[in-house]
Amino acid sequence: MDVIYDEAAVPHYVLPDPLTFAGGAPVTTAEAWAERRHEILALFERHVYGVLPGKPERMDFEVVSVDESALSGAATRKAVTVHFAGNGHTASMDILIHLPNGHTRPTPIFAGLNFMGNHTVHADPGIALSTSWVPASFPAAGIEHNQATDAARGISASRWAVKRILERGYGLATIYCGDLDPDFDDGFQNGVHALFPRDDSAGDAWATLGAWAWGLHRALDYFETDGDIDAGRVALIGHSRLGKAAVWAGAADPRFALVVSNNSGCGGAALSRRRYGETVGIINSKFPHWFCTNFKRYNDDEDALPVDQHMLLALVAPRPLYVASAVEDRWSDPRGEFLSAVHATPVYRLLGREGLPIDQMPDLEQPVMGTIGYHIRTGKHDVTAYDWERYLDFADLHLKSA
Ligand code: GCU
Repeated sequence: MDVIYDEAAVPHYVLPDPLTFAGGAPVTTAEAWAERRHEILALFERHVYGVLPGKPERMDFEVVSVDESALSGAATRKAVTVHFAGNGHTASMDILIHLPNGHTRPTPIFAGLNFMGNHTVHADPGIALSTSWVPASFPAAGIEHNQATDAARGISASRWAVKRILERGYGLATIYCGDLDPDFDDGFQNGVHALFPRDDSAGDAWATLGAWAWGLHRALDYFETDGDIDAGRVALIGHSRLGKAAVWAGAADPRFALVVSNNSGCGGAALSRRRYGETVGIINSKFPHWFCTNFKRYNDDEDALPVDQHMLLALVAPRPLYVASAVEDRWSDPRGEFLSAVHATPVYRLLGREGLPIDQMPDLEQPVMGTIGYHIRTGKHDVTAYDWERYLDFADLHLKSA
């Protein structure tokens, strides 16, 4: 089937109403929403991402190093390894943390997964090279036999505005997604899946996006133990596939104070029923390991889904949520990302929050910031300095006044 890139070719669709129970009763109070929220969360687990397990049998936090004068004195850099054990298996993830020096502690932070290893977010040689498997399918710079080399240091730095984040008084914590689950289809043998017995008889066992989201939950468990981090003010951020994981993680765990979706597209912020750009059928065939088995039922049958992605965004309510698109990123369906935020807004309003203040797409680089923020910028699928300045403004608005 041809990919739809023409607004006129988007089929007519009817979205499920977040404010109507599956049984048909309307949700008119905050108390009823709390119940409906559970219902929606369970639907996303069962039909889209798979069931999220809680903590593993064992989890230990090892502070591997602390450098109080990193980045020429601008930051305190911590390397923390989280060791997991369960079901006769072990796994671990490395959290790289930068905290701004000269700002009051505990500090609010941004937290997010990275695509290629913690050493790619900044060229600082003090950051340990990841020893995990890394994909060679991305621009292969600095990767030999699926292992990182020094040549990979800082290769994703343009996507992580470390200096600006620190200057504006926020910390940054990041984890390589491949520590949790390497991004290829291996039948869920490697990564953290093995920490739990697997039962996919109901088609709802967790998959790769679930493992990535789970890792973010476990990172927050660590933040809660670190007196330098304000665990009540953690802004979750993710780009693209890692944006899908970030929104799922933030939707499922209300401990995250703020959630940012950067170009998360299909299976992230974008409405599946629009079938514009990437569709459920396409994503499930290209990335069969991302979503649970049941999600494949909706290939070319989006209207049968009991949810759509505006309901995922609604699960973040009443917490602040920012959705960002890029005009050339048609694959991610910018309008579908925007409309998702529009259709999550009634839930925010029910809870006494503004949600998204507009219902028509704004012009390029005209950010809108209610409890839901949105912008569409020029350029392509990426995280840019422009995006980060908006997220920092949005965090100032919602986290600094808290
Ligand atoms: C592919 C995939 C998208 C995903 C993107 C990315 O383009 O189809 O769903 O968001 O990769 O993660 O960069």
